[in-house]
Amino acid sequence: MEFNALKVNNVKRLTDKAVGVSIDVTKEYKKAYSFKAGQYLTVEHLYQGEKIRRSYSICTAPTESQLVLGIKEIQQGKFSVFANRELSAGDELLVSSPEGRFTFENNRWRSKNILCIAAGSGITPIMSIVKEALTNHNSNTVYLLYGNQSEADEMFAEELEQLSVAYPKRLKLFRTYSRIASDKGAFGRIDNGLCLHTLKNAFNQPKLDVAYLCGPEGMIEALKETLHNYGLPEDKILYELFYSEKEEMSSSIEGQVQIDVLIDGVTHSIMAPADKLVLDSLLENDLDAPYSCQGGVCSSCICKVKKGAVEMIKNQILTDSEITQGLTLSCQAKVIEAPLSIDFDDV
Ligand code: FES
Repeated sequence: MEFNALKVNNVKRLTDKAVGVSIDVTKEYKKAYSFKAGQYLTVEHLYQGEKIRRSYSICTAPTESQLVLGIKEIQQGKFSVFANRELSAGDELLVSSPEGRFTFENNRWRSKNILCIAAGSGITPIMSIVKEALTNHNSNTVYLLYGNQSEADEMFAEELEQLSVAYPKRLKLFRTYSRIASDKGAFGRIDNGLCLHTLKNAFNQPKLDVAYLCGPEGMIEALKETLHNYGLPEDKILYELFYSEKEEMSSSIEGQVQIDVLIDGVTHSIMAPADKLVLDSLLENDLDAPYSCQGGVCSSCICKVKKGAVEMIKNQILTDSEITQGLTLSCQAKVIEAPLSIDFDDV
């Protein structure tokens, strides 16, 4: 993964716990940093001597002049705390080029009814998608269901108001708050019932063409089924997980195992504990494997298993047929058959 040092233009406070970080993409990098709505960037940062990488979604649309990342402060989050409390205009960040499969489907030739559902900071890629959808076809209608704990936690509140005024007929916005009630929306978390209630009563039962969901795993899992039953084909329910929870899995083999890995045309061979995640073992051996979230949600770390076998702790990204082809998320993979041979170039 290639990183470039880019300057921060501006750090704008969005809520008490979230900022919008505007990245200065100079002329020479314009092409490398062109992106699709819904994609993210990975930022590398030295924190107390440790190199950390975190991925953040772009909240601006490709048609906007600025590239802005939405960063919510997570308790004890190494980069998000720094970004919220210390980062300022003029600072330099190491930033990867845009990535991610959760992207807006171009529909320039036919108008669509597009449902967007976001919980908390899951609004970040959804903001980009909403803006792109409104300009991609001048008859698109966007239905946005947006959940937060309280009004104070709502990122992009002002910008959403402006969009509602600019597109009164084509942006239907419905809010819900799960901790502190507000007359601006419903009270409660986004779940099956609230989703169906909103579609029926606030959005007037639209015939949907596609849905974009971003939020915690439980919400996504529940809504995928609800929206499928509502009439959307599975491949039209696109989603991105935020706040992945790590699950534990014990390896079925023990001791040290051999891992051969091909990265950028060079094969490296290491010995690593079988119960360690493959990506962690590679990084500990200073191998430049691609990664960003390390939580099984971004897909940067995909590689192909050529020999041996792995099992993933969790996987919400790869399809069964991709797994059958040997693809795996190295940040989630543990060795179950050694020696293991993996390839980052053939993906
Ligand atoms: S690093 Fe993001 S899925 Fe593995």
